[in-house]
Amino acid sequence: MRRREFIRNAAAAGTGLLVFRLAPRGLAQTVAGRIEIVMDEPLGTISPNIYGHFTENLSGVIYDGIWVGENSKVPNVGGIRKELVDEMRKISPPIVRFPGGCFADSYDWRDGIGPVDTRPRRTNFWNGGEKAGAPDAHRYDPNRFGTNEFVQFCRLIRAQPYLAANLRGLSAQEFNRWIEYCNSPAGSTTLADQRAAAGFKDPYNVQYWGVGNESWGCGGNFTPQEYAVEYRRFTAWAPSYRGGDLSFVASGPSDDGWNWTRGFLEEIVRKGKDQVRGIYGLALHYYSWNLSRGKTNDWEKGKGDAVNFDVVDWYELLRQGDVMESLIKGHWLVMGEFDPEHHIKLVVDEWGPWYKPGSELTPGDQIEQLPTLRDAVFSGLTLDTFNRHPDKVGIGCCAQLINCLNSLYLAHEDRFCVTPVGHVFAMYAAHQGGTSLRTEFSVPSIQYERDGQTASFWGLQGSASLHEKQLILTAVNPDVKNPVEAQIVIRGARVKSGSASVMTSSDIHARNTFDQRTAISPSTAPLEIKESAPVFRFPAASVVKLTMTLA
Ligand code: AHR
Repeated sequence: MRRREFIRNAAAAGTGLLVFRLAPRGLAQTVAGRIEIVMDEPLGTISPNIYGHFTENLSGVIYDGIWVGENSKVPNVGGIRKELVDEMRKISPPIVRFPGGCFADSYDWRDGIGPVDTRPRRTNFWNGGEKAGAPDAHRYDPNRFGTNEFVQFCRLIRAQPYLAANLRGLSAQEFNRWIEYCNSPAGSTTLADQRAAAGFKDPYNVQYWGVGNESWGCGGNFTPQEYAVEYRRFTAWAPSYRGGDLSFVASGPSDDGWNWTRGFLEEIVRKGKDQVRGIYGLALHYYSWNLSRGKTNDWEKGKGDAVNFDVVDWYELLRQGDVMESLIKGHWLVMGEFDPEHHIKLVVDEWGPWYKPGSELTPGDQIEQLPTLRDAVFSGLTLDTFNRHPDKVGIGCCAQLINCLNSLYLAHEDRFCVTPVGHVFAMYAAHQGGTSLRTEFSVPSIQYERDGQTASFWGLQGSASLHEKQLILTAVNPDVKNPVEAQIVIRGARVKSGSASVMTSSDIHARNTFDQRTAISPSTAPLEIKESAPVFRFPAASVVKLTMTLA
């Protein structure tokens, strides 16, 4: 089965289950390495937006995860889970995408505005994948959480809203009206008055708009050429109200769908080369799901288990995550054929591991999974990849924020925990807005046995960014057994002092749960400076952040 078929089935019926395996870890040996940060080779400014999030109206993400309701016993701010708001403020979230995902192309934004008791109930796109006994709100959208509530959530966490429009089911006119509802000046339009009646007189000024989602699949089943025509129609003369252009994100490829990128842009520029200026970004969705070690490409059979995995599965996931770099470079090359000046950025607005069902902390929550240290290393690896391509990646949204896939947080009723992925976002927030610097890692590759053959994977990777006198280096050591002791050579500057933040565990399956909320979290460590070069021991299976003050 392929991913698009899975989504078709999930929307129409239930999904299946799983396996398990574990492997011990042997004696460790410290590996010597060297990291060079080249101060006079800036790669560009790291867009804060690559540290973005994705919240789809899917199972427990909105109802239970974010929205608990004003009258809930769960502490809330106007209905929004307070603990989530408090935690998110610690990670400086720049942008949040809503309401989907596939859900977006079934959503009528008009259902989610106006007096709450008159809002209609609608069948959720993901209804078919919900188990018997699932909460009503997961099956039939009560529309209690709509545009106003989402924008309120964004304001509470100080993030920008990124709205995904329904291109499959609604018209371009209705898309324009959603923009009008959000952005038309106070008192100017009937929709602005409706917004004011809900308590929001001033415009929301939403800048980022997705024009459909996965339009090759659940978003309309278009060819890239057909979609390009729709994209042009939806965005041509769309109102802005902001005194500047809106930033439209076109539905882009899945994985290495070069033909989608090429076919879409070919059609766009058929109307003229400058048409690329009407596109802020091209979405790229990439999920790391195939842990079958090359045995199958079947979407169900190829998936691995979130918490029961062996050492080879550990590397297999990271190997899949590492593909992100070649996808960014590959799509960028194709985009350059039509947009040589690179006006269009890549918007990686869905990324993360996707495992088979079975690890949910809240049984029944569809596509919820329990992140472990492996997912933290995967997430650090992905964020470092984005940092290394600041010229190419404009936005990144981890799929998804809470109770779904690579969650930063898990919540159910009054229970809540921060996952290892959430901790990685807290560590890496320091990169936002910094100048990415070329950083070379010279560390021997890891060798391991993969189905009777020797396989290898790189020994240490990361990224560095400069913020005036502060230099941030993040890196992951994927080696399940051996620490790496690396000398950090800064070409063109001297380090005065520094400190480290480290997340690791002796158990590669380490994870937080509602009962053990702090089983794994980062700890601080000193950074030794020998003859003006910092030296740090990157523990096995770790995510590390070094904060260095330059002389
Ligand atoms: O994140 C879950 C789903 O994965 C999204 O709805 C869809 O865009 C993707 O296929």
